[in-house]
Amino acid sequence: MTDPSRPTTADAIAISNLRFAWGGRRRFGLAVDTFSVRRGETVFLFGESGSGKSTLLSLVCGVNKPASGQVEVDGTDLGALRGAARDRFRAERIGVIFQMFNLLPYASPLDNILLPLHFAPERRQRCGDPRAAALDLTDTLGLSRSLIEHAPAADLSVGQQQRVAVARALIGHPPLIIADEPTSALDAGAQSAFLDLLFERVQAFGATLVLVSHDARLATRFDREVSLSDIARTHREDAA
Ligand SMILES: Nc1ncnc2c1ncn2[C@@H]1O[C@H](COP(=O)(O)OP(=O)(O)OP(=O)(O)O)[C@@H](O)[C@H]1O
Ligand SMILES: [Mg+2]
Repeated sequence: MTDPSRPTTADAIAISNLRFAWGGRRRFGLAVDTFSVRRGETVFLFGESGSGKSTLLSLVCGVNKPASGQVEVDGTDLGALRGAARDRFRAERIGVIFQMFNLLPYASPLDNILLPLHFAPERRQRCGDPRAAALDLTDTLGLSRSLIEHAPAADLSVGQQQRVAVARALIGHPPLIIADEPTSALDAGAQSAFLDLLFERVQAFGATLVLVSHDARLATRFDREVSLSDIARTHREDAA
C-alpha cells in the first residue's frame, strides 16, 4: 500500500478537474480544471467579493470536499484522507488564516495559538518550546503578553483577533500558508509588521504562500498574481 502522506509531485498545490457547489437556496458552483502552485512559490489571489476565493481556499485546506476532481497538497490527495486524517494533515502541514478568524471565543489567545499543535506532533516538535514560540510571534505582531495570556479571545478587538489568527497559522512553520484577507482589520503599522514577518518566515523555511486580498498594493511582494476568474468558472442558480 502506498503511503498517502508521501509527496509525489514538486507542487505544493495541484488541483485537477475540481467541481464544488454550495447547497442552500442560492446555489454557487465553482469549477477549476487545473491550477497548481510550486513549492516555495508566493501567490496573490484576487477577485470580486462573492466570486469564490474563500470557497476555493476551503477546498485547498480540506475544510470542504469537492463533489469531484482532485486537490493535492504536497502530493497528497485530500479526498483520499478520511475525517480525522484530513484534520491531522491540515494541522501538520497548513497554517490557515481564515477570513472570519475562527478563534475559540472563551479560550485565551495563547491557547488559541497553541491549538493546532495539539493535533500535530511533528509541528509541535518543530517549535521547540511552543509557549516561547507563540510569545515570540505575538511580540513581533505587537500583542502584549498580559492580553494574550489572560483575556478570552472574544474580548479582543477585531484587529487583535486577526493577529492572534496570524500567530496560530505561523506557529511551528507549516510548509503551506493559506491566508484569507489577513490584513483587512489591521492599521498600517500592524499590516507592515505582519507582512514583514510573513515573508521572512516564508523565505526562511521555504514555505508556500497563497494569500487573498482586495488590497492590490500588496501584490508586488508576490511571485505571481492570479485572478480567480482566470482559473475558475463559477455559476449561480436560484433554487425554486
Ligand atoms: N457557507 C456557505 N453556504 C452556502 N453558500 C455559501 C457559503 N459560503 C459562500 N457561499 C456562496 O459562495 C459564493 C462565494 O463566496 P466566497 O465566500 O467564496 O466569496 P469570496 O470571493 O471569498 O468573497 P469575499 O471577497 O467577499 O470574501 C457566495 O456568493 C455565496 O453565494
Ligand atoms: Mg472571502
